[in-house]
Amino acid sequence: MINNNKILYSGMQATGSLTLGNYLGALKNWVNLNEEYECIYGVMDLHSLTVRQNPAEFRKNARSLYALYMAAGLDPEKNCIYYQSHVPAHAQLSWILGCFTYMGELNRMTQFKDKAAKHTENINAGLYTYPVLMAADILLYQADVVPVGQDQKQHLEITRDIAQRFNGIYGDVFTVPEAYIAKAGAKIMSLQEPQKKMSKSEENPNASIWLLDDRDSIIRKFKRAVTDSDTVVRYAEEKAGISNLMDIYGCVTGKDSAEIEKEFEGKGYGEFKLAVGEAVADELLPLQKRYGQFIQDKEYLDSMIQKNDEKAAYYASKTLRKVYKKVGFTEPAK
Ligand code: TRP
Repeated sequence: MINNNKILYSGMQATGSLTLGNYLGALKNWVNLNEEYECIYGVMDLHSLTVRQNPAEFRKNARSLYALYMAAGLDPEKNCIYYQSHVPAHAQLSWILGCFTYMGELNRMTQFKDKAAKHTENINAGLYTYPVLMAADILLYQADVVPVGQDQKQHLEITRDIAQRFNGIYGDVFTVPEAYIAKAGAKIMSLQEPQKKMSKSEENPNASIWLLDDRDSIIRKFKRAVTDSDTVVRYAEEKAGISNLMDIYGCVTGKDSAEIEKEFEGKGYGEFKLAVGEAVADELLPLQKRYGQFIQDKEYLDSMIQKNDEKAAYYASKTLRKVYKKVGFTEPAK
């Protein structure tokens, strides 16, 4: 790699638009990591295909995700932001790793079980081998650390198992990655069902805040957020709705829950919800402006994509070559 920093790898699927949860729980916390790590972020479009996509929308979403990464503050000159589908080594390594992954292991993946239950009409093999492709993503770049949410921990575990198994047979080929535990950031829950994670694939329009929502919609959704029949702004397990709003407000303003409780002492939920809505709208406005600029500047966006695709392909092909040699593939005649 270009310097001695440790390598950090992550990415998001190019499906739908990003939510406030993706932003506060992940993206926002990625922004300064490049000071400490060599950061590589993928637009995970191969993974997106495990669910049926409308081609035109899919293309648009993938482009939009790239610009959103940038708008959130990831500088594409300092972070390698690239498209997974532009680097063929992902699919190539994924095949090989699939031959070192047991069906018994894949059968245990809770996300597969959840998604299979949700998409009964399309339980495809890609959905089943999704974790193998994710292992290929991470191992191709010899990542030391991977920031992942709770729902992806099991996939990181299987990545480690595959890497260790492969290394056990062929010698030290892959770096065995660790989970990166973020210092800040929270798990943001649905505004309508605060026991559930705020989701990209949400159908209830009031449950998720989209990063490109306008100010009025943001404030309206917070006003309608589900809370409880109590009236005190207080952080508590049995007050999931209010606690989620406090998490959001805290992430955006930097205040801790004690400060927030004090700020809204003697004030009603209505006032609190409005304050959260306004704070979120204020936080997202500069991001939305930057997004508008990036998505229009086709030339700049394309030049960053091209440069980073090349960089990613270079790293990835180095690992893939090593793997080809280790497993004993013949070399093509020159
Ligand atoms: N599965 C991840 C998610 O849905 C996205 C992803 C794909 C990923 N490959 C990855 C995340 C590699 C981290 C590292 O959130």
